[in-house]
Amino acid sequence: MRNFIVAITGASGAIYARRILQGLNQPALRTYLIVSPAGRRLLHEELGLEQPVPERLLDEPVRSEIIPLAYHDIGACVASGSFPSEGMVIAPCSSSKLAQVAHGGADNLIARAAQVMLKERRRLVLLHREMPLSLVDVRNMVAATEAGAIICPASPGFYLQPRTIGDLVDMVAGRVLGLLAVPCDWKIQWAGADRRS
Ligand SMILES: Cc1cc2nc3c(=O)[nH]c(=O)nc-3n(C[C@H](O)[C@H](O)[C@H](O)COP(=O)(O)O)c2cc1C
Repeated sequence: MRNFIVAITGASGAIYARRILQGLNQPALRTYLIVSPAGRRLLHEELGLEQPVPERLLDEPVRSEIIPLAYHDIGACVASGSFPSEGMVIAPCSSSKLAQVAHGGADNLIARAAQVMLKERRRLVLLHREMPLSLVDVRNMVAATEAGAIICPASPGFYLQPRTIGDLVDMVAGRVLGLLAVPCDWKIQWAGADRRS
């Protein structure tokens, strides 16, 4: 089993979290899911979910193992570096959580698990969403990047001629899965368009 951590915070873009979880919905994968209180609110506002239960969040049959963990349980398995998780994504990642990650905050399970990823030199992807960015955000991005995190702005490209919101979401969510080395056959790769002179 490959273990991953998905954390959902209170930034806009709950649909990205759903698509990433769908990408991780594979039999050989286990996902530990943490949702902040503000993340719960966004799941309600944007996806109409009362409770972030895996079946509702996925919106498709559960084929993998998804284990919800409590936001305030800083004693959960993923709070320890001895627990063999491969990578973590915070998606969407609020500026507030970005700041916590950048400055070593660990008073909740999302922040603590992120600090574990950094100290263990494991992959940590922050799918940050805010616009415009303040200087505080930019400095926090620098600090988080220097500490080893990958800042992945929720900013889809348009070069594959997207036709639906789903196409745009796939482009972002698929890139996150790629950063976690999770196989995904969505059509999000630029095949190249050579222009001969
Ligand atoms: C509808 C709604 C949309 C929000 N969108 C964003 C956003 O895109 N980016 C952001 O950084 N914060 C956003 N916020 C604010 C965060 O939810 C707030 O800062 C919260 O404290 C973040 O907490 P968390 O990081 O623990 O989830 C939004 C809040 C609401 C209610």
